[in-house]
Amino acid sequence: MVNSFYITTPIYYVNDAPHIGHAYTTCAADVLSRWHRMRGEDVWFLTGTDEHGTKVERAAQSNNVKPQEWCDKLVNDSWLPVLATINASNDDFIRTTDQRHKLGVQAFWQKLKDNGHVIQGKYEGPYCVGCEEFKLLGDLIPGTGEQQGKDCCPVHSKPVEILQENNYFFQLSKFQQSLIEHYQKNPDRIQPESAYNEVMSFLNQGLQDISMSRSSVSWGIEVPWDKDQVIYVWFDALLNYATAINYAGFADGSQKETFERFWPAVHLVGKDILRFHAVYWPAMLLAAGLPLPRTVYAHGWLLVGGEKMSKSKLTGIAPSQIVDYFGSDAFRYYFLRAISFGQDGSFSWEDISARYTSELANGLGNLASRLTAMLEKYCETKVPKPGKYLSADQKIIDLVRENSLNADQAIDSYEIATAITYTKEIVDAVNLYVTEQAPWVLAKEPSNKERLDTVLYVIAESLRAIAVLHHPVMPKSTSLLWQMLGADQLGSINDQRINTAGVWGQLPVGAITVKKDALFPRLAEDA
Ligand code: ME8
Ligand code: MG
Repeated sequence: MVNSFYITTPIYYVNDAPHIGHAYTTCAADVLSRWHRMRGEDVWFLTGTDEHGTKVERAAQSNNVKPQEWCDKLVNDSWLPVLATINASNDDFIRTTDQRHKLGVQAFWQKLKDNGHVIQGKYEGPYCVGCEEFKLLGDLIPGTGEQQGKDCCPVHSKPVEILQENNYFFQLSKFQQSLIEHYQKNPDRIQPESAYNEVMSFLNQGLQDISMSRSSVSWGIEVPWDKDQVIYVWFDALLNYATAINYAGFADGSQKETFERFWPAVHLVGKDILRFHAVYWPAMLLAAGLPLPRTVYAHGWLLVGGEKMSKSKLTGIAPSQIVDYFGSDAFRYYFLRAISFGQDGSFSWEDISARYTSELANGLGNLASRLTAMLEKYCETKVPKPGKYLSADQKIIDLVRENSLNADQAIDSYEIATAITYTKEIVDAVNLYVTEQAPWVLAKEPSNKERLDTVLYVIAESLRAIAVLHHPVMPKSTSLLWQMLGADQLGSINDQRINTAGVWGQLPVGAITVKKDALFPRLAEDA
Protein backbone atom coordinates (compact mmCIF):
# COMPACT_ATOMS: atom_id res chain seq x y z
CA MET A 1 0.00 0.00 0.00
CA VAL A 2 1.21 3.50 -0.86
CA ASN A 3 1.84 5.76 2.14
CA SER A 4 -0.08 9.00 2.21
CA PHE A 5 1.53 12.27 3.21
CA TYR A 6 -0.77 15.19 3.97
CA ILE A 7 1.03 18.46 4.63
CA THR A 8 -0.40 21.89 5.37
CA THR A 9 0.74 25.49 5.81
CA PRO A 10 -1.15 27.88 8.05
CA ILE A 11 -3.98 29.63 6.24
CA TYR A 12 -2.83 33.22 6.12
CA TYR A 13 -4.85 36.27 7.13
CA VAL A 14 -5.89 38.42 4.21
CA ASN A 15 -5.63 41.67 6.14
CA ASP A 16 -2.78 42.51 3.78
CA ALA A 17 -0.54 41.09 1.04
CA PRO A 18 1.99 38.30 1.69
CA HIS A 19 5.63 38.89 2.57
CA ILE A 20 8.62 36.54 2.50
CA GLY A 21 7.72 35.12 5.93
CA HIS A 22 4.56 33.57 4.46
CA ALA A 23 6.43 32.47 1.35
CA TYR A 24 8.99 30.81 3.60
CA THR A 25 6.50 28.42 5.21
CA THR A 26 4.92 27.68 1.84
CA CYS A 27 8.32 26.96 0.24
CA ALA A 28 9.26 24.60 3.05
CA ALA A 29 5.97 22.73 2.69
CA ASP A 30 6.49 22.64 -1.05
CA VAL A 31 9.97 21.13 -0.77
CA LEU A 32 8.67 18.45 1.60
CA SER A 33 5.70 17.75 -0.69
CA ARG A 34 7.89 17.37 -3.75
CA TRP A 35 10.33 15.22 -1.82
CA HIS A 36 7.63 12.84 -0.62
CA ARG A 37 6.07 12.69 -4.10
CA MET A 38 9.49 11.61 -5.40
CA ARG A 39 9.40 8.75 -2.91
CA GLY A 40 6.23 7.61 -4.63
CA GLU A 41 3.93 8.59 -1.74
CA ASP A 42 0.34 9.75 -2.06
CA VAL A 43 0.89 13.43 -1.24
CA TRP A 44 -1.67 16.14 -0.58
CA PHE A 45 -0.35 19.67 -0.07
CA LEU A 46 -2.82 22.23 1.26
CA THR A 47 -2.49 25.97 1.71
CA GLY A 48 -5.05 28.76 1.79
CA THR A 49 -6.39 31.89 3.42
CA ASP A 50 -8.01 32.81 6.73
CA GLU A 51 -10.66 35.38 5.94
CA HIS A 52 -12.97 35.85 8.91
CA GLY A 53 -12.58 37.76 12.17
CA THR A 54 -12.07 41.27 13.40
CA LYS A 55 -8.67 41.84 11.86
CA VAL A 56 -9.82 41.20 8.30
CA GLU A 57 -13.15 42.93 8.87
CA ARG A 58 -11.36 46.09 10.02
CA ALA A 59 -8.95 45.99 7.08
CA ALA A 60 -11.97 45.92 4.76
CA GLN A 61 -13.68 48.71 6.68
CA SER A 62 -10.68 51.00 6.50
CA ASN A 63 -10.61 50.44 2.74
CA ASN A 64 -14.35 51.13 2.49
CA VAL A 65 -15.31 47.80 0.99
CA LYS A 66 -17.40 44.84 2.14
CA PRO A 67 -15.34 42.09 3.81
CA GLN A 68 -16.09 39.52 1.10
CA GLU A 69 -15.07 41.94 -1.62
CA TRP A 70 -11.87 42.72 0.24
CA CYS A 71 -11.03 39.03 0.64
CA ASP A 72 -11.72 38.22 -3.00
CA LYS A 73 -9.49 41.05 -4.11
CA LEU A 74 -6.61 40.16 -1.79
CA VAL A 75 -6.80 36.46 -2.65
CA ASN A 76 -6.89 37.04 -6.40
CA ASP A 77 -4.44 39.92 -6.60
CA SER A 78 -1.94 38.90 -3.93
CA TRP A 79 -2.24 35.49 -2.30
CA LEU A 80 -2.82 33.28 -5.33
CA PRO A 81 -0.18 35.01 -7.47
CA VAL A 82 2.50 34.54 -4.82
CA LEU A 83 2.11 30.77 -5.18
CA ALA A 84 3.08 31.07 -8.83
CA THR A 85 5.92 33.45 -7.94
CA ILE A 86 7.55 30.88 -5.67
CA ASN A 87 6.53 27.93 -7.89
CA ALA A 88 4.45 26.15 -5.26
CA SER A 89 2.90 22.80 -6.23
CA ASN A 90 -0.04 22.88 -3.81
CA ASP A 91 -2.84 20.42 -4.56
CA ASP A 92 -5.55 22.59 -3.05
CA PHE A 93 -6.19 26.11 -1.82
CA ILE A 94 -8.83 26.56 0.84
CA ARG A 95 -10.54 29.79 1.75
CA THR A 96 -12.51 29.97 4.96
CA THR A 97 -15.28 31.70 3.00
CA ASP A 98 -15.68 28.55 0.83
CA GLN A 99 -19.03 26.81 1.24
CA ARG A 100 -17.27 23.45 1.84
CA HIS A 101 -15.46 25.01 4.78
CA LYS A 102 -18.56 26.59 6.33
CA LEU A 103 -20.46 23.31 6.13
CA GLY A 104 -17.57 21.40 7.68
CA VAL A 105 -17.10 23.91 10.50
CA GLN A 106 -20.77 23.81 11.44
CA ALA A 107 -20.84 20.02 11.34
CA PHE A 108 -17.74 19.90 13.53
CA TRP A 109 -19.03 22.29 16.21
CA GLN A 110 -22.43 20.64 16.25
CA LYS A 111 -20.62 17.38 16.93
CA LEU A 112 -18.60 18.90 19.78
CA LYS A 113 -21.79 20.28 21.28
CA ASP A 114 -23.57 16.93 20.89
CA ASN A 115 -20.60 15.22 22.53
CA GLY A 116 -21.07 17.54 25.51
CA HIS A 117 -17.94 19.69 25.21
CA VAL A 118 -19.59 23.11 24.76
CA ILE A 119 -21.07 25.15 27.60
CA GLN A 120 -22.45 28.69 27.96
CA GLY A 121 -20.32 31.24 29.72
CA LYS A 122 -19.19 34.80 30.01
CA TYR A 123 -15.84 36.08 28.83
CA GLU A 124 -14.33 39.14 30.38
CA GLY A 125 -10.74 40.03 29.63
CA PRO A 126 -8.15 41.24 27.16
CA TYR A 127 -8.15 40.39 23.45
CA CYS A 128 -5.47 41.15 20.84
CA VAL A 129 -6.97 41.70 17.40
CA GLY A 130 -3.52 41.29 15.80
CA CYS A 131 -3.26 37.77 17.22
CA GLU A 132 -7.04 37.27 17.22
CA GLU A 133 -6.44 35.81 20.65
CA PHE A 134 -7.85 35.98 24.15
CA LYS A 135 -4.96 36.94 26.41
CA LEU A 136 -4.10 36.42 30.03
CA LEU A 137 -3.08 39.49 31.99
CA GLY A 138 0.27 37.86 32.62
CA ASP A 139 0.90 37.68 28.86
CA LEU A 140 0.84 41.45 28.42
CA ILE A 141 3.63 44.01 28.41
CA PRO A 142 3.44 47.68 29.42
CA GLY A 143 3.12 50.02 26.44
CA THR A 144 5.79 52.57 25.63
CA GLY A 145 5.68 55.91 23.77
CA GLU A 146 2.15 56.62 22.54
CA GLN A 147 0.95 53.46 24.25
CA GLN A 148 2.26 54.53 27.67
CA GLY A 149 0.05 53.25 30.47
CA LYS A 150 -1.76 50.70 28.32
CA ASP A 151 -1.42 46.93 28.43
CA CYS A 152 -0.01 45.76 25.11
CA CYS A 153 0.33 42.52 23.22
CA PRO A 154 3.96 41.37 23.28
CA VAL A 155 3.78 40.27 19.63
CA HIS A 156 2.12 43.33 18.12
CA SER A 157 3.17 46.00 20.66
CA LYS A 158 -0.39 47.35 20.39
CA PRO A 159 -2.93 47.83 23.20
CA VAL A 160 -5.28 44.92 23.79
CA GLU A 161 -9.05 45.48 23.83
CA ILE A 162 -11.13 44.54 26.86
CA LEU A 163 -13.99 42.24 25.91
CA GLN A 164 -17.08 41.45 27.88
CA GLU A 165 -19.33 38.97 26.15
CA ASN A 166 -21.71 36.13 26.77
CA ASN A 167 -20.65 33.30 24.58
CA TYR A 168 -20.06 29.60 24.26
CA PHE A 169 -17.05 27.92 25.76
CA PHE A 170 -15.16 24.88 24.62
CA GLN A 171 -14.18 22.71 27.59
CA LEU A 172 -10.49 22.73 26.86
CA SER A 173 -9.60 21.95 30.47
CA LYS A 174 -11.00 18.43 30.13
CA PHE A 175 -8.27 17.52 27.67
CA GLN A 176 -5.17 18.60 29.56
CA GLN A 177 -4.32 15.16 30.91
CA SER A 178 -4.94 13.28 27.67
CA LEU A 179 -2.75 15.70 25.75
CA ILE A 180 0.09 15.46 28.26
CA GLU A 181 -0.03 11.68 28.10
CA HIS A 182 -0.25 11.68 24.32
CA TYR A 183 2.80 13.89 23.93
CA GLN A 184 4.80 12.02 26.55
CA LYS A 185 4.19 8.84 24.58
CA ASN A 186 4.77 10.48 21.19
CA PRO A 187 7.34 13.24 21.56
CA ASP A 188 7.86 13.42 17.78
CA ARG A 189 4.35 14.83 17.36
CA ILE A 190 5.71 18.29 18.16
CA GLN A 191 8.97 19.39 16.60
CA PRO A 192 11.59 20.70 16.98
CA GLU A 193 12.40 19.84 20.58
CA SER A 194 12.20 23.47 21.73
CA ALA A 195 8.60 23.55 20.51
CA TYR A 196 7.85 20.31 22.30
CA ASN A 197 9.21 21.71 25.55
CA GLU A 198 7.25 24.93 25.20
CA VAL A 199 3.98 23.07 24.69
CA MET A 200 4.61 20.68 27.57
CA SER A 201 5.29 23.51 29.96
CA PHE A 202 2.12 25.28 28.81
CA LEU A 203 0.10 22.08 29.30
CA ASN A 204 1.58 21.48 32.70
CA GLN A 205 0.43 24.92 33.87
CA GLY A 206 -3.14 23.76 33.32
CA LEU A 207 -5.74 24.60 30.69
CA GLN A 208 -8.76 26.85 31.06
CA ASP A 209 -11.98 26.52 29.09
CA ILE A 210 -11.91 28.92 26.16
CA SER A 211 -14.53 31.01 24.45
CA MET A 212 -15.39 29.46 21.08
CA SER A 213 -17.82 32.08 19.80
CA ARG A 214 -18.16 35.86 19.54
CA SER A 215 -21.35 37.87 19.92
CA SER A 216 -19.94 41.26 18.96
CA VAL A 217 -18.40 40.10 15.67
CA SER A 218 -20.48 39.59 12.56
CA TRP A 219 -17.86 38.61 9.95
CA GLY A 220 -17.69 34.88 10.59
CA ILE A 221 -19.44 31.54 10.44
CA GLU A 222 -22.69 31.32 12.39
CA VAL A 223 -22.78 29.07 15.42
CA PRO A 224 -25.08 26.30 14.13
CA TRP A 225 -27.40 26.39 17.17
CA ASP A 226 -27.38 30.18 17.76
CA LYS A 227 -27.70 32.69 14.92
CA ASP A 228 -26.62 35.59 17.11
CA GLN A 229 -23.07 34.36 17.48
CA VAL A 230 -20.27 33.59 15.08
CA ILE A 231 -17.53 31.05 15.69
CA TYR A 232 -14.33 32.52 17.08
CA VAL A 233 -12.00 32.97 14.10
CA TRP A 234 -9.31 30.54 15.27
CA PHE A 235 -11.90 27.85 15.92
CA ASP A 236 -13.12 28.34 12.37
CA ALA A 237 -9.62 28.59 10.83
CA LEU A 238 -8.02 25.52 12.42
CA LEU A 239 -10.76 23.35 11.00
CA ASN A 240 -9.62 24.12 7.45
CA TYR A 241 -7.23 21.19 7.67
CA ALA A 242 -10.21 18.88 8.04
CA THR A 243 -12.80 20.69 5.91
CA ALA A 244 -10.43 20.81 2.91
CA ILE A 245 -10.36 17.02 2.76
CA ASN A 246 -14.14 16.86 3.06
CA TYR A 247 -14.76 16.58 6.76
CA ALA A 248 -18.43 17.37 6.03
CA GLY A 249 -18.71 14.25 3.87
CA PHE A 250 -16.87 12.22 6.47
CA ALA A 251 -19.07 13.47 9.32
CA ASP A 252 -22.40 12.67 7.65
CA GLY A 253 -21.06 9.47 6.10
CA SER A 254 -21.88 10.54 2.55
CA GLN A 255 -18.29 10.54 1.30
CA LYS A 256 -15.66 9.34 3.74
CA GLU A 257 -12.87 8.41 1.32
CA THR A 258 -10.94 11.65 0.99
CA PHE A 259 -10.76 12.30 4.71
CA GLU A 260 -9.77 8.73 5.47
CA ARG A 261 -7.18 8.74 2.70
CA PHE A 262 -5.25 11.71 4.07
CA TRP A 263 -5.96 12.37 7.73
CA PRO A 264 -3.87 12.93 9.94
CA ALA A 265 -1.74 15.78 8.62
CA VAL A 266 1.70 17.25 9.15
CA HIS A 267 1.18 20.91 10.05
CA LEU A 268 4.03 23.32 9.28
CA VAL A 269 3.57 26.56 11.18
CA GLY A 270 5.58 29.50 12.45
CA LYS A 271 6.36 29.35 16.16
CA ASP A 272 3.95 32.27 16.73
CA ILE A 273 0.99 29.94 16.34
CA LEU A 274 2.33 26.79 17.94
CA ARG A 275 -0.10 26.74 20.87
CA PHE A 276 -3.14 26.88 18.59
CA HIS A 277 -1.86 23.91 16.60
CA ALA A 278 -0.36 21.75 19.33
CA VAL A 279 -2.90 22.39 22.12
CA TYR A 280 -6.26 23.82 21.00
CA TRP A 281 -6.55 21.96 17.71
CA PRO A 282 -5.62 18.54 19.11
CA ALA A 283 -8.06 19.10 22.00
CA MET A 284 -10.82 19.77 19.49
CA LEU A 285 -9.85 16.66 17.56
CA LEU A 286 -10.01 14.60 20.75
CA ALA A 287 -13.42 16.09 21.48
CA ALA A 288 -14.58 15.07 18.01
CA GLY A 289 -13.10 11.58 18.33
CA LEU A 290 -10.57 12.04 15.53
CA PRO A 291 -6.88 11.05 15.31
CA LEU A 292 -4.37 13.73 16.33
CA PRO A 293 -1.99 15.42 13.87
CA ARG A 294 0.97 13.37 12.69
CA THR A 295 3.33 16.24 13.49
CA VAL A 296 3.15 19.92 14.28
CA TYR A 297 6.43 21.45 13.19
CA ALA A 298 7.04 25.04 14.36
CA HIS A 299 9.75 26.81 12.41
CA GLY A 300 11.53 30.02 13.34
CA TRP A 301 10.94 33.59 12.24
CA LEU A 302 12.46 35.73 9.55
CA LEU A 303 13.63 38.74 11.45
CA VAL A 304 14.04 42.38 10.52
CA GLY A 305 16.22 44.37 12.88
CA GLY A 306 15.90 41.54 15.42
CA GLU A 307 12.08 41.53 15.30
CA LYS A 308 9.66 39.24 13.50
CA MET A 309 8.94 40.50 10.02
CA SER A 310 5.25 41.36 10.00
CA LYS A 311 2.37 42.76 8.00
CA SER A 312 1.15 44.87 10.86
CA LYS A 313 4.54 46.48 11.47
CA LEU A 314 5.00 47.08 7.73
CA THR A 315 8.38 45.39 7.75
CA GLY A 316 7.47 42.92 5.01
CA ILE A 317 9.44 42.34 1.82
CA ALA A 318 7.32 41.01 -1.07
CA PRO A 319 8.60 37.68 -2.45
CA SER A 320 8.56 39.08 -6.00
CA GLN A 321 11.14 41.70 -5.06
CA ILE A 322 13.63 38.87 -4.61
CA VAL A 323 12.29 36.40 -7.17
CA ASP A 324 12.29 38.96 -9.99
CA TYR A 325 16.01 39.35 -9.55
CA PHE A 326 17.26 35.90 -8.51
CA GLY A 327 14.53 33.60 -9.83
CA SER A 328 12.25 31.29 -7.87
CA ASP A 329 14.77 28.45 -7.60
CA ALA A 330 17.40 30.63 -5.96
CA PHE A 331 14.75 32.10 -3.63
CA ARG A 332 13.72 28.63 -2.48
CA TYR A 333 17.29 27.41 -2.22
CA TYR A 334 18.46 30.43 -0.28
CA PHE A 335 15.82 30.47 2.45
CA LEU A 336 15.88 26.74 3.02
CA ARG A 337 19.64 26.39 2.92
CA ALA A 338 20.77 29.52 4.75
CA ILE A 339 18.42 29.19 7.72
CA SER A 340 18.52 26.00 9.70
CA PHE A 341 14.87 24.91 9.71
CA GLY A 342 13.44 25.54 13.17
CA GLN A 343 15.73 28.51 13.94
CA ASP A 344 15.20 32.24 13.38
CA GLY A 345 17.09 33.88 10.54
CA SER A 346 17.57 37.19 8.80
CA PHE A 347 17.41 37.96 5.13
CA SER A 348 20.05 40.16 3.54
CA TRP A 349 20.67 41.05 -0.09
CA GLU A 350 24.42 40.59 0.46
CA ASP A 351 23.97 37.07 1.79
CA ILE A 352 21.66 35.89 -0.97
CA SER A 353 23.94 37.44 -3.66
CA ALA A 354 27.00 35.81 -2.17
CA ARG A 355 25.40 32.36 -1.97
CA TYR A 356 23.86 32.69 -5.40
CA THR A 357 27.24 33.42 -6.90
CA SER A 358 29.35 30.93 -5.00
CA GLU A 359 26.97 27.98 -4.57
CA LEU A 360 24.67 28.23 -7.57
CA ALA A 361 26.41 30.10 -10.40
CA ASN A 362 30.01 29.05 -9.67
CA GLY A 363 29.16 25.81 -7.90
CA LEU A 364 26.36 23.86 -9.57
CA GLY A 365 25.87 25.95 -12.71
CA ASN A 366 29.51 25.95 -13.65
CA LEU A 367 29.87 22.21 -13.08
CA ALA A 368 26.98 21.54 -15.47
CA SER A 369 28.29 23.82 -18.19
CA ARG A 370 31.84 22.49 -17.90
CA LEU A 371 30.56 18.94 -18.28
CA THR A 372 28.40 19.59 -21.35
CA ALA A 373 31.18 21.62 -22.99
CA MET A 374 33.67 18.77 -22.48
CA LEU A 375 31.24 16.13 -23.70
CA GLU A 376 30.71 18.16 -26.84
CA LYS A 377 34.41 18.55 -27.37
CA TYR A 378 35.62 15.07 -26.49
CA CYS A 379 32.63 12.69 -26.81
CA GLU A 380 30.45 13.97 -29.65
CA THR A 381 27.99 15.17 -26.94
CA LYS A 382 27.29 11.60 -25.79
CA VAL A 383 27.56 10.19 -22.28
CA PRO A 384 30.66 7.95 -22.56
CA LYS A 385 31.07 4.40 -21.30
CA PRO A 386 33.13 4.30 -18.10
CA GLY A 387 36.13 2.00 -17.81
CA LYS A 388 37.70 0.73 -14.61
CA TYR A 389 37.09 2.94 -11.57
CA LEU A 390 40.13 4.18 -9.62
CA SER A 391 40.05 5.17 -5.99
CA ALA A 392 39.31 8.84 -6.76
CA ASP A 393 36.25 7.72 -8.73
CA GLN A 394 35.18 5.30 -6.03
CA LYS A 395 35.31 8.10 -3.48
CA ILE A 396 32.79 10.08 -5.50
CA ILE A 397 30.61 7.02 -6.03
CA ASP A 398 30.59 6.37 -2.28
CA LEU A 399 29.87 9.99 -1.44
CA VAL A 400 26.93 10.09 -3.86
CA ARG A 401 25.47 6.97 -2.28
CA GLU A 402 25.98 8.03 1.33
CA ASN A 403 24.95 11.65 0.95
CA SER A 404 21.76 10.75 -0.90
CA LEU A 405 20.74 8.39 1.88
CA ASN A 406 21.64 10.97 4.50
CA ALA A 407 19.69 13.69 2.69
CA ASP A 408 16.64 11.46 2.49
CA GLN A 409 16.89 10.70 6.20
CA ALA A 410 17.31 14.38 7.10
CA ILE A 411 13.97 15.08 5.42
CA ASP A 412 12.27 12.65 7.80
CA SER A 413 13.39 14.82 10.69
CA TYR A 414 12.48 18.06 8.83
CA GLU A 415 16.13 19.08 8.59
CA ILE A 416 15.72 20.67 5.19
CA ALA A 417 18.91 22.75 5.33
CA THR A 418 20.87 19.63 6.25
CA ALA A 419 19.41 17.71 3.33
CA ILE A 420 20.37 20.50 0.94
CA THR A 421 23.86 20.63 2.40
CA TYR A 422 24.40 16.90 1.76
CA THR A 423 23.67 17.52 -1.91
CA LYS A 424 25.84 20.61 -2.02
CA GLU A 425 28.71 18.53 -0.62
CA ILE A 426 28.45 16.31 -3.68
CA VAL A 427 28.60 19.38 -5.95
CA ASP A 428 31.71 20.63 -4.16
CA ALA A 429 33.42 17.25 -4.22
CA VAL A 430 32.76 16.78 -7.93
CA ASN A 431 34.03 20.27 -8.72
CA LEU A 432 37.24 19.41 -6.90
CA TYR A 433 37.38 16.09 -8.72
CA VAL A 434 37.17 17.90 -12.07
CA THR A 435 40.08 20.11 -11.11
CA GLU A 436 42.17 17.19 -9.88
CA GLN A 437 41.43 14.83 -12.75
CA ALA A 438 41.84 17.61 -15.33
CA PRO A 439 40.01 15.94 -18.22
CA TRP A 440 41.40 18.59 -20.62
CA VAL A 441 44.89 17.27 -19.88
CA LEU A 442 43.81 13.63 -20.37
CA ALA A 443 42.26 14.67 -23.70
CA LYS A 444 45.64 15.64 -25.10
CA GLU A 445 46.80 12.02 -25.19
CA PRO A 446 44.69 9.53 -27.24
CA SER A 447 45.95 6.61 -25.13
CA ASN A 448 44.12 8.16 -22.16
CA LYS A 449 40.73 7.88 -23.87
CA GLU A 450 39.35 5.24 -21.52
CA ARG A 451 40.41 7.23 -18.48
CA LEU A 452 38.92 10.40 -19.95
CA ASP A 453 35.61 8.62 -20.58
CA THR A 454 35.56 7.27 -17.03
CA VAL A 455 36.13 10.70 -15.51
CA LEU A 456 33.46 12.30 -17.67
CA TYR A 457 31.01 9.55 -16.82
CA VAL A 458 31.64 10.02 -13.10
CA ILE A 459 30.87 13.74 -13.45
CA ALA A 460 27.75 13.17 -15.55
CA GLU A 461 26.35 10.45 -13.31
CA SER A 462 27.01 12.52 -10.19
CA LEU A 463 25.12 15.39 -11.79
CA ARG A 464 22.23 13.01 -12.48
CA ALA A 465 22.00 12.24 -8.76
CA ILE A 466 22.41 15.93 -7.86
CA ALA A 467 19.59 16.88 -10.23
CA VAL A 468 17.23 14.41 -8.55
CA LEU A 469 18.21 15.40 -5.00
CA HIS A 470 17.93 19.13 -5.70
CA HIS A 471 14.71 18.80 -7.69
CA PRO A 472 12.33 19.38 -4.75
CA VAL A 473 14.21 22.57 -3.93
CA MET A 474 14.96 23.89 -7.42
CA PRO A 475 12.42 22.33 -9.79
CA LYS A 476 13.13 24.62 -12.73
CA SER A 477 16.91 24.52 -13.02
CA THR A 478 17.11 20.80 -12.27
CA SER A 479 14.61 20.12 -15.07
CA LEU A 480 16.93 22.03 -17.36
CA LEU A 481 19.91 20.10 -16.02
CA TRP A 482 18.01 16.88 -16.71
CA GLN A 483 17.73 17.88 -20.38
CA MET A 484 21.39 18.89 -20.48
CA LEU A 485 22.33 15.40 -19.28
CA GLY A 486 20.12 13.72 -21.86
CA ALA A 487 18.47 11.98 -18.94
CA ASP A 488 14.95 12.11 -20.43
CA GLN A 489 15.50 8.47 -21.39
CA LEU A 490 15.04 7.72 -17.68
CA GLY A 491 11.63 9.40 -17.76
CA SER A 492 10.69 12.80 -16.40
CA ILE A 493 12.74 14.10 -13.49
CA ASN A 494 9.54 14.32 -11.42
CA ASP A 495 9.14 10.57 -11.73
CA GLN A 496 12.59 9.69 -10.40
CA ARG A 497 12.75 7.98 -7.02
CA ILE A 498 14.61 10.22 -4.61
CA ASN A 499 15.33 7.49 -2.07
CA THR A 500 17.38 5.60 -4.67
CA ALA A 501 18.95 8.69 -6.24
CA GLY A 502 22.37 7.59 -5.02
CA VAL A 503 22.34 4.19 -6.70
CA TRP A 504 25.23 4.45 -9.14
CA GLY A 505 25.06 3.88 -12.86
CA GLN A 506 21.58 5.06 -13.83
CA LEU A 507 22.50 7.54 -16.56
CA PRO A 508 22.47 5.60 -19.84
CA VAL A 509 25.69 5.40 -21.82
CA GLY A 510 25.19 7.06 -25.18
CA ALA A 511 22.59 9.57 -23.94
CA ILE A 512 22.78 12.74 -26.04
CA THR A 513 23.67 15.70 -23.86
CA VAL A 514 22.81 19.29 -24.71
CA LYS A 515 24.58 22.55 -24.00
CA LYS A 516 22.26 25.22 -22.55
CA ASP A 517 22.56 28.75 -21.31
CA ALA A 518 23.94 28.98 -17.81
CA LEU A 519 21.65 27.36 -15.21
CA PHE A 520 22.25 30.34 -12.94
CA PRO A 521 23.23 33.40 -15.02
CA ARG A 522 25.77 35.69 -13.45
CA LEU A 523 24.23 38.63 -11.66
CA ALA A 524 24.52 41.98 -13.36
CA GLU A 525 27.03 44.14 -11.48
CA ASP A 526 25.19 46.71 -9.43
CA ALA A 527 26.09 50.17 -10.61
O1 ME8 B 1 -1.49 33.41 12.05
N1 ME8 B 1 8.90 34.52 9.69
O2 ME8 B 1 -1.98 34.02 9.88
P1 ME8 B 1 -0.77 35.02 9.54
C1 ME8 B 1 8.52 33.28 9.38
N2 ME8 B 1 -4.40 33.08 10.06
N3 ME8 B 1 7.25 32.93 9.09
C2 ME8 B 1 6.34 33.90 9.10
C3 ME8 B 1 6.67 35.24 9.41
C4 ME8 B 1 8.02 35.53 9.70
N4 ME8 B 1 8.43 36.75 9.98
N5 ME8 B 1 5.54 35.97 9.33
C5 ME8 B 1 4.54 35.13 8.99
C6 ME8 B 1 -2.24 33.42 11.07
N6 ME8 B 1 5.02 33.88 8.85
C7 ME8 B 1 -3.52 32.62 11.09
C8 ME8 B 1 -3.19 31.16 10.93
S1 ME8 B 1 -3.86 28.59 10.68
C9 ME8 B 1 -5.22 27.68 11.03
C10 ME8 B 1 -4.36 30.24 10.93
C11 ME8 B 1 4.24 32.69 8.48
O3 ME8 B 1 -1.16 35.68 8.27
C12 ME8 B 1 4.34 31.62 9.56
O4 ME8 B 1 3.97 30.39 9.01
O5 ME8 B 1 -0.45 35.85 10.70
C13 ME8 B 1 3.31 32.10 10.54
O6 ME8 B 1 2.90 31.10 11.45
C14 ME8 B 1 2.18 32.48 9.58
O7 ME8 B 1 2.87 33.04 8.45
C15 ME8 B 1 1.22 33.47 10.20
O8 ME8 B 1 0.43 34.02 9.20
MG1 MG C 1 0.33 36.85 12.30
